[in-house]
Amino acid sequence: MAKIRHSRLQSRKSTSSSTLIFTMLVFFFFVVVTLVTLGILSVPSSSGDSSTPKANDLSSIVRNSVDRNHGDEGNGERWVEVISWEPRAFVYHNFLTKEECEYLVNLAKPHMKKSTVVDSETGKSKDSRVRTSSGTFLARGRDKVIRTIEKRIADFTFIPVEHGEGLQILHYEVGQKYEPHYDYFLDEFNTQNGGQRMATLLMYLTDVEEGGETVFPAAKGNISSVPWWNELSDCGKKGLSVKPKRGDALLFWSMKPDSSLDPSSLHGGCPVIKGNKWSSTKWMRVNEYKA
Ligand SMILES: *[C@@H]1O[C@H](CO)[C@@H](O)[C@H](O)[C@H]1NC(C)=O
Repeated sequence: MAKIRHSRLQSRKSTSSSTLIFTMLVFFFFVVVTLVTLGILSVPSSSGDSSTPKANDLSSIVRNSVDRNHGDEGNGERWVEVISWEPRAFVYHNFLTKEECEYLVNLAKPHMKKSTVVDSETGKSKDSRVRTSSGTFLARGRDKVIRTIEKRIADFTFIPVEHGEGLQILHYEVGQKYEPHYDYFLDEFNTQNGGQRMATLLMYLTDVEEGGETVFPAAKGNISSVPWWNELSDCGKKGLSVKPKRGDALLFWSMKPDSSLDPSSLHGGCPVIKGNKWSSTKWMRVNEYKA
Protein backbone atom coordinates (compact mmCIF):
# COMPACT_ATOMS: atom_id res chain seq x y z
CA MET A 1 0.00 0.00 0.00
CA ALA A 2 2.76 2.36 0.93
CA LYS A 3 4.41 1.73 -2.38
CA ILE A 4 1.27 2.51 -4.36
CA ARG A 5 0.61 5.73 -2.45
CA HIS A 6 4.21 6.73 -3.07
CA SER A 7 3.82 6.03 -6.79
CA ARG A 8 0.65 8.04 -6.95
CA LEU A 9 2.54 10.99 -5.65
CA GLN A 10 5.19 10.60 -8.31
CA SER A 11 3.03 10.19 -11.43
CA ARG A 12 -0.03 8.47 -12.80
CA LYS A 13 2.06 6.65 -15.38
CA SER A 14 4.17 4.76 -12.84
CA THR A 15 1.02 3.83 -10.88
CA SER A 16 -0.53 2.14 -13.87
CA SER A 17 2.70 0.33 -14.80
CA SER A 18 3.20 -1.10 -11.28
CA THR A 19 -0.46 -2.19 -11.26
CA LEU A 20 0.16 -3.85 -14.61
CA ILE A 21 3.25 -5.68 -13.30
CA PHE A 22 1.31 -6.79 -10.20
CA THR A 23 -1.59 -8.04 -12.36
CA MET A 24 0.85 -9.94 -14.59
CA LEU A 25 2.54 -11.57 -11.58
CA VAL A 26 -0.83 -12.70 -10.20
CA PHE A 27 -1.82 -14.00 -13.63
CA PHE A 28 1.52 -15.85 -14.03
CA PHE A 29 1.11 -17.40 -10.57
CA PHE A 30 -2.34 -18.75 -11.47
CA VAL A 31 -1.10 -20.10 -14.81
CA VAL A 32 1.73 -22.03 -13.06
CA VAL A 33 -0.64 -23.35 -10.38
CA THR A 34 -3.09 -24.47 -13.08
CA LEU A 35 -0.38 -26.25 -15.11
CA VAL A 36 1.00 -28.06 -12.05
CA THR A 37 -2.53 -29.07 -11.04
CA LEU A 38 -3.23 -30.45 -14.52
CA GLY A 39 0.07 -32.32 -14.44
CA ILE A 40 1.45 -30.52 -17.51
CA LEU A 41 4.34 -29.10 -15.48
CA SER A 42 5.97 -31.38 -12.95
CA VAL A 43 8.12 -30.62 -9.98
CA PRO A 44 11.46 -32.39 -10.52
CA SER A 45 12.19 -35.16 -8.06
CA SER A 46 15.55 -36.87 -7.61
CA SER A 47 15.68 -40.58 -8.47
CA GLY A 48 18.80 -41.99 -6.90
CA ASP A 49 18.73 -45.50 -8.39
CA SER A 50 22.15 -46.17 -9.87
CA SER A 51 22.49 -49.95 -9.82
CA THR A 52 23.70 -50.18 -13.42
CA PRO A 53 25.11 -53.59 -14.35
CA LYS A 54 28.02 -53.92 -16.80
CA ALA A 55 27.02 -53.86 -20.48
CA ASN A 56 27.98 -57.45 -21.30
CA ASP A 57 27.09 -59.02 -17.99
CA LEU A 58 24.31 -61.38 -19.00
CA SER A 59 24.23 -63.11 -15.64
CA SER A 60 22.20 -60.21 -14.38
CA ILE A 61 19.30 -59.08 -16.52
CA VAL A 62 19.50 -55.36 -17.23
CA ARG A 63 16.32 -53.45 -16.53
CA ASN A 64 16.20 -50.16 -18.34
CA SER A 65 13.13 -48.10 -17.72
CA VAL A 66 12.19 -46.11 -20.79
CA ASP A 67 8.67 -44.99 -20.16
CA ARG A 68 7.51 -45.62 -16.63
CA ASN A 69 4.04 -44.20 -17.09
CA HIS A 70 2.29 -46.06 -14.31
CA GLY A 71 -1.07 -47.62 -15.08
CA ASP A 72 -1.38 -46.56 -18.73
CA GLU A 73 -5.11 -47.41 -18.94
CA GLY A 74 -4.46 -50.29 -16.58
CA ASN A 75 -2.20 -52.01 -19.10
CA GLY A 76 0.89 -52.30 -16.95
CA GLU A 77 4.21 -50.61 -16.76
CA ARG A 78 6.25 -50.11 -19.93
CA TRP A 79 9.93 -50.93 -19.62
CA VAL A 80 12.70 -52.45 -21.71
CA GLU A 81 14.81 -55.43 -20.74
CA VAL A 82 18.07 -56.31 -22.48
CA ILE A 83 18.07 -60.09 -22.84
CA SER A 84 21.10 -60.68 -25.07
CA TRP A 85 23.92 -58.89 -26.91
CA GLU A 86 24.63 -61.80 -29.29
CA PRO A 87 22.10 -61.55 -30.90
CA ARG A 88 21.11 -58.04 -29.89
CA ALA A 89 17.69 -58.69 -28.36
CA PHE A 90 15.38 -56.66 -26.14
CA VAL A 91 11.99 -57.24 -24.57
CA TYR A 92 9.72 -54.21 -24.37
CA HIS A 93 7.13 -55.06 -21.70
CA ASN A 94 3.53 -53.96 -22.27
CA PHE A 95 4.37 -52.54 -25.69
CA LEU A 96 0.78 -53.06 -26.89
CA THR A 97 -2.36 -52.51 -24.85
CA LYS A 98 -4.89 -55.31 -24.35
CA GLU A 99 -7.28 -53.46 -26.69
CA GLU A 100 -4.63 -53.19 -29.44
CA CYS A 101 -3.88 -56.94 -29.18
CA GLU A 102 -7.57 -57.83 -29.46
CA TYR A 103 -8.03 -55.38 -32.32
CA LEU A 104 -5.22 -56.97 -34.37
CA VAL A 105 -6.46 -60.54 -33.75
CA ASN A 106 -10.05 -59.65 -34.73
CA LEU A 107 -8.92 -57.76 -37.82
CA ALA A 108 -6.80 -60.67 -39.05
CA LYS A 109 -9.03 -63.60 -38.06
CA PRO A 110 -11.23 -63.74 -41.21
CA HIS A 111 -8.15 -63.63 -43.50
CA MET A 112 -5.85 -66.30 -42.06
CA LYS A 113 -4.10 -68.53 -44.59
CA LYS A 114 -1.59 -71.32 -44.16
CA SER A 115 1.88 -69.78 -43.76
CA THR A 116 4.52 -70.14 -46.44
CA VAL A 117 8.28 -69.68 -46.42
CA VAL A 118 10.48 -67.95 -49.00
CA ASP A 119 12.28 -70.32 -51.38
CA SER A 120 15.89 -69.11 -51.38
CA GLU A 121 16.42 -70.38 -54.95
CA THR A 122 13.43 -68.80 -56.67
CA GLY A 123 12.56 -66.11 -54.12
CA LYS A 124 8.93 -67.19 -54.30
CA SER A 125 6.65 -68.25 -51.44
CA LYS A 126 6.17 -71.95 -50.88
CA ASP A 127 4.39 -74.27 -48.43
CA SER A 128 6.55 -75.79 -45.81
CA ARG A 129 6.72 -78.33 -43.04
CA VAL A 130 9.10 -76.14 -41.01
CA ARG A 131 6.39 -73.53 -40.60
CA THR A 132 2.95 -74.85 -39.73
CA SER A 133 1.20 -71.68 -38.54
CA SER A 134 -1.35 -69.63 -40.46
CA GLY A 135 -1.10 -65.91 -41.11
CA THR A 136 -2.03 -62.76 -42.97
CA PHE A 137 -0.56 -59.33 -43.74
CA LEU A 138 -2.08 -56.00 -42.71
CA ALA A 139 -1.02 -53.16 -45.03
CA ARG A 140 1.24 -50.47 -43.58
CA GLY A 141 -0.69 -47.40 -42.41
CA ARG A 142 -3.98 -49.29 -42.94
CA ASP A 143 -5.92 -47.47 -40.19
CA LYS A 144 -5.44 -45.23 -37.16
CA VAL A 145 -4.74 -48.04 -34.65
CA ILE A 146 -2.12 -49.57 -36.93
CA ARG A 147 -0.52 -46.18 -37.66
CA THR A 148 -0.24 -45.57 -33.90
CA ILE A 149 1.43 -48.96 -33.38
CA GLU A 150 3.78 -48.40 -36.33
CA LYS A 151 4.77 -44.98 -34.98
CA ARG A 152 5.50 -46.60 -31.58
CA ILE A 153 7.67 -49.23 -33.30
CA ALA A 154 9.60 -46.50 -35.13
CA ASP A 155 10.11 -44.56 -31.87
CA PHE A 156 11.41 -47.67 -30.10
CA THR A 157 13.69 -48.97 -32.86
CA PHE A 158 14.81 -45.63 -34.40
CA ILE A 159 13.92 -47.15 -37.78
CA PRO A 160 11.53 -44.99 -39.85
CA VAL A 161 7.97 -46.26 -40.43
CA GLU A 162 8.68 -46.26 -44.21
CA HIS A 163 11.36 -48.97 -43.76
CA GLY A 164 8.81 -51.42 -42.33
CA GLU A 165 6.93 -54.16 -44.12
CA GLY A 166 3.22 -54.53 -43.39
CA LEU A 167 2.34 -56.12 -40.06
CA GLN A 168 2.10 -59.88 -40.28
CA ILE A 169 -0.36 -61.60 -37.94
CA LEU A 170 0.34 -65.24 -37.08
CA HIS A 171 -1.72 -67.91 -35.39
CA TYR A 172 -0.27 -71.11 -33.88
CA GLU A 173 -2.51 -73.85 -32.56
CA VAL A 174 -1.37 -76.75 -30.34
CA GLY A 175 1.57 -78.50 -32.01
CA GLN A 176 2.22 -75.69 -34.51
CA LYS A 177 5.69 -74.18 -34.68
CA TYR A 178 8.31 -72.45 -36.79
CA GLU A 179 11.68 -74.21 -36.98
CA PRO A 180 14.78 -72.03 -36.37
CA HIS A 181 15.59 -69.77 -39.32
CA TYR A 182 17.08 -66.39 -40.19
CA ASP A 183 14.96 -63.39 -41.10
CA TYR A 184 17.61 -62.02 -43.49
CA PHE A 185 17.61 -63.06 -47.15
CA LEU A 186 20.34 -64.90 -48.99
CA ASP A 187 18.87 -64.23 -52.45
CA GLU A 188 18.83 -61.19 -54.74
CA PHE A 189 15.08 -61.25 -55.43
CA ASN A 190 13.80 -60.44 -51.93
CA THR A 191 16.19 -57.55 -51.28
CA GLN A 192 15.19 -55.55 -54.37
CA ASN A 193 12.58 -53.61 -52.43
CA GLY A 194 14.08 -52.06 -49.29
CA GLY A 195 17.33 -54.02 -49.14
CA GLN A 196 18.15 -56.48 -46.39
CA ARG A 197 15.96 -57.12 -43.35
CA MET A 198 17.78 -55.39 -40.53
CA ALA A 199 15.60 -55.96 -37.47
CA THR A 200 12.44 -57.78 -36.41
CA LEU A 201 9.86 -56.81 -33.81
CA LEU A 202 7.75 -59.74 -32.61
CA MET A 203 4.66 -58.77 -30.66
CA TYR A 204 2.76 -61.32 -28.59
CA LEU A 205 -0.99 -60.81 -28.87
CA THR A 206 -2.00 -63.57 -26.43
CA ASP A 207 -0.57 -65.36 -23.42
CA VAL A 208 0.33 -69.00 -24.12
CA GLU A 209 -0.23 -71.50 -21.32
CA GLU A 210 2.66 -73.77 -22.30
CA GLY A 211 5.24 -73.77 -25.10
CA GLY A 212 5.22 -71.31 -28.00
CA GLU A 213 8.42 -69.60 -26.85
CA THR A 214 10.64 -67.68 -29.25
CA VAL A 215 13.98 -69.47 -29.03
CA PHE A 216 17.45 -68.33 -30.15
CA PRO A 217 19.46 -71.58 -30.33
CA ALA A 218 22.69 -69.81 -31.36
CA ALA A 219 22.66 -67.10 -28.67
CA LYS A 220 25.87 -66.57 -26.71
CA GLY A 221 25.77 -66.24 -22.95
CA ASN A 222 24.18 -68.11 -20.08
CA ILE A 223 20.77 -69.14 -21.46
CA SER A 224 19.59 -70.49 -18.10
CA SER A 225 19.99 -67.15 -16.35
CA VAL A 226 16.64 -65.81 -17.59
CA PRO A 227 14.15 -65.43 -14.69
CA TRP A 228 11.52 -67.57 -16.50
CA TRP A 229 13.88 -70.55 -17.10
CA ASN A 230 11.82 -73.01 -15.02
CA GLU A 231 8.64 -72.21 -16.97
CA LEU A 232 10.16 -73.06 -20.38
CA SER A 233 9.27 -76.10 -22.50
CA ASP A 234 12.00 -78.57 -23.56
CA CYS A 235 12.20 -76.76 -26.90
CA GLY A 236 12.51 -73.43 -25.08
CA LYS A 237 15.44 -74.73 -23.05
CA LYS A 238 17.45 -75.40 -26.23
CA GLY A 239 18.47 -71.76 -26.40
CA LEU A 240 17.82 -68.28 -25.11
CA SER A 241 14.05 -68.08 -24.91
CA VAL A 242 11.32 -65.52 -24.50
CA LYS A 243 7.98 -66.64 -23.14
CA PRO A 244 4.98 -65.14 -24.96
CA LYS A 245 3.04 -62.65 -22.86
CA ARG A 246 0.19 -60.59 -24.22
CA GLY A 247 1.34 -57.08 -25.09
CA ASP A 248 5.07 -57.76 -24.82
CA ALA A 249 7.32 -57.15 -27.81
CA LEU A 250 10.65 -58.76 -28.67
CA LEU A 251 13.06 -56.75 -30.78
CA PHE A 252 16.09 -58.45 -32.29
CA TRP A 253 18.60 -57.44 -34.93
CA SER A 254 19.56 -59.64 -37.89
CA MET A 255 22.48 -57.34 -38.63
CA LYS A 256 25.47 -56.36 -36.54
CA PRO A 257 26.26 -52.66 -36.13
CA ASP A 258 28.84 -52.97 -38.95
CA SER A 259 25.94 -54.10 -41.26
CA SER A 260 27.22 -57.68 -41.61
CA LEU A 261 24.63 -60.43 -41.14
CA ASP A 262 24.42 -61.84 -37.60
CA PRO A 263 24.16 -65.67 -37.54
CA SER A 264 23.39 -65.55 -33.81
CA SER A 265 19.97 -64.13 -34.80
CA LEU A 266 18.85 -67.68 -35.68
CA HIS A 267 15.43 -68.08 -34.05
CA GLY A 268 12.35 -70.25 -34.05
CA GLY A 269 8.87 -70.56 -32.60
CA CYS A 270 8.56 -73.54 -30.27
CA PRO A 271 5.51 -75.80 -30.66
CA VAL A 272 2.51 -74.65 -28.66
CA ILE A 273 1.85 -77.31 -26.02
CA LYS A 274 -1.20 -75.84 -24.32
CA GLY A 275 -3.30 -72.88 -25.40
CA ASN A 276 -3.31 -70.73 -28.46
CA LYS A 277 -0.67 -68.32 -29.76
CA TRP A 278 -1.32 -65.15 -31.73
CA SER A 279 1.59 -62.91 -32.63
CA SER A 280 2.41 -60.05 -34.93
CA THR A 281 5.68 -59.45 -36.77
CA LYS A 282 7.14 -56.22 -38.13
CA TRP A 283 10.20 -56.66 -40.34
CA MET A 284 12.32 -53.60 -40.89
CA ARG A 285 14.56 -53.03 -43.91
CA VAL A 286 17.83 -51.14 -44.36
CA ASN A 287 16.17 -48.80 -46.90
CA GLU A 288 12.66 -47.59 -47.59
CA TYR A 289 10.25 -50.45 -48.30
CA LYS A 290 7.73 -49.44 -50.96
CA ALA A 291 4.26 -50.70 -50.10
C1 LIG B 1 24.00 -69.71 -15.48
O1 LIG B 1 22.98 -69.10 -14.71
C2 LIG B 1 22.44 -69.94 -13.71
C3 LIG B 1 21.27 -69.19 -13.07
O2 LIG B 1 21.60 -67.86 -12.77
C4 LIG B 1 23.53 -70.32 -12.71
O3 LIG B 1 23.00 -71.16 -11.73
C5 LIG B 1 24.66 -71.01 -13.46
O4 LIG B 1 25.71 -71.28 -12.58
C6 LIG B 1 25.14 -70.14 -14.62
N1 LIG B 1 26.10 -70.91 -15.40
C7 LIG B 1 27.28 -70.44 -15.77
C8 LIG B 1 28.12 -71.33 -16.62
O5 LIG B 1 27.66 -69.32 -15.45
